[in-house]
Amino acid sequence: MRTLIVYYSMGGDVEKIAKKVGEGIGADVEQLKPVKSISKVTAAIGAATGQGVAIEPLRVNPKDYDQIIIGSPVWAGSVATPVNQFLKEYDVAELVKGIFTSSAGGDGHGAVQKLYKKLPNLKYVLTNIYASKKEQSAFNGERIDRYIDVINDVGVSGSNTDSFGQENQEESE
Ligand SMILES: Cc1cc2nc3c(=O)[nH]c(=O)nc-3n(C[C@H](O)[C@H](O)[C@H](O)COP(=O)(O)O)c2cc1C
Repeated sequence: MRTLIVYYSMGGDVEKIAKKVGEGIGADVEQLKPVKSISKVTAAIGAATGQGVAIEPLRVNPKDYDQIIIGSPVWAGSVATPVNQFLKEYDVAELVKGIFTSSAGGDGHGAVQKLYKKLPNLKYVLTNIYASKKEQSAFNGERIDRYIDVINDVGVSGSNTDSFGQENQEESE
């Protein structure tokens, strides 16, 4: 199973998670790079309205992979504009099996829910990782480890609860 993690990170939080998950599941990890730097105001307005933003071409072809996992910060209750752009530019929605977000508050769940209709095969969802808060790091670490176990299918009991996978899809319908 070839897995590609595609992430965007403005401040480094999502990057840390992407690298950890990438190592844990043996995936290639690709960063989305905007062509021009994004101001926080543009970021918030663009994300709130579901816009994309010009990104550099990826170094790999995402269609060469069996599954794709996306990592994004939460911006204005939505995923970041480079992630929207990736989904618009590369016709790979069916390959996207997972998504994880980092946020300052609890908005990750809603941000991912907005994408459920676009991503019909989403199974591995990890939201509300508060990567920038030091006191949350143990909690984050455990949840990231569990996410890795679920993707690796190592028989974690009760893994499809919490913010993982199908349950959320059912809730959103
Ligand atoms: C423009 C902008 C908008 C944001 N909006 C939200 C938000 O709506 N909810 C939230 O919980 N955090 C929000 N955040 C905080 C980020 O999601 C959080 O700091 C995240 O960990 C950043 O990830 P990064 O370091 O990979 O960029 C926002 C940050 C920025 C820069």
